[in-house]
Amino acid sequence: LRASGSISRFPLIPVRGVPLMCSIANNWDSVWSFCPDPADLLIATYPKAGTTWTQEIVDLLLHNGDAEACKRAPTPVRSPFLEIFSPPPIPSGLDYLKNMDPPRIIKTHLPFQLVPTGFWENKCKVIYVSRNAKDNLVSYFHFDCMNMTQPEPGPWEGYISKFMHGELSWGSWYDHVKGYWAEREKRNILYLFYEDMKENPRREVERIMRYLDLSVSDEVISRIVELTSFKNMKENPMTNYSCVPPPVFDQSISPFMRKGEVGDWRNHFTPEQSKMFDEDYEKQMKGVNIPFRDLI
Ligand code: A3P
Repeated sequence: LRASGSISRFPLIPVRGVPLMCSIANNWDSVWSFCPDPADLLIATYPKAGTTWTQEIVDLLLHNGDAEACKRAPTPVRSPFLEIFSPPPIPSGLDYLKNMDPPRIIKTHLPFQLVPTGFWENKCKVIYVSRNAKDNLVSYFHFDCMNMTQPEPGPWEGYISKFMHGELSWGSWYDHVKGYWAEREKRNILYLFYEDMKENPRREVERIMRYLDLSVSDEVISRIVELTSFKNMKENPMTNYSCVPPPVFDQSISPFMRKGEVGDWRNHFTPEQSKMFDEDYEKQMKGVNIPFRDLI
């Protein structure tokens, strides 16, 4: 695949002002017209906020902690990515969804205003996971280095600027986290934080369980916490994205399960970059009080 040069980094095309990979933008009508079943569940995130982790927790909760059942297929097959159109022969998210019966665990990175309206009309459950901006940015930078379909990240300094200006795939992190935050009560969205999940995974798994109206034993909760530890998910071929061939995800550049920590931004931002970022952050987040942690 690599030799034939068939994998190329997709340029971004704005859809209602939000830059999306052209593969998505060119298929936008089919994404926008997707209509879920009321039993479907949506896991929404800005890229690299903890999507895969949450997908695994939810699948395990729905299977009462049955590890073998959750090894039936890799993450993107068990929990399709709504808007993704990967290079053929990898099926699109919509192709996977077509062949599955509800209830389906659907992943999206779309900002609130681009989520197909059927999710709201059908009152689907929606879990939103957010992550502090600096760690999110660092994780996205490494991901863009290894995901050969995403636009070139370019040098680190310029990447910070692109993040701040909302020029990366799926647009502005600031608008994304604020958009779902503003709607969380009206739409009954469960709004989670990566830092909370790291601090006390058990508490957050229980929170997700209650939101899903499930009831599993304490023992099963413990098992789910263990199965979804960073270490276990890194080693699990069904969760570590080894399913995506190297010409697309080059994990020799950066593994998908990279570090899984809070505060890694300190190893990347210079004090000057951090100061500049913080000043802009204040402006972009003015008037909203989303309780992000470990940012300063
Ligand atoms: P890092 O690059 O900081 O390591 P997403 O699934 O939204 O693409 O997010 C990927 C990020 O979540 C990566 O962050 C990845 O390592 C981290 N991650 C994945 N599974 C995790 C887990 N079980 N515990 C903690 N972090 C996890």
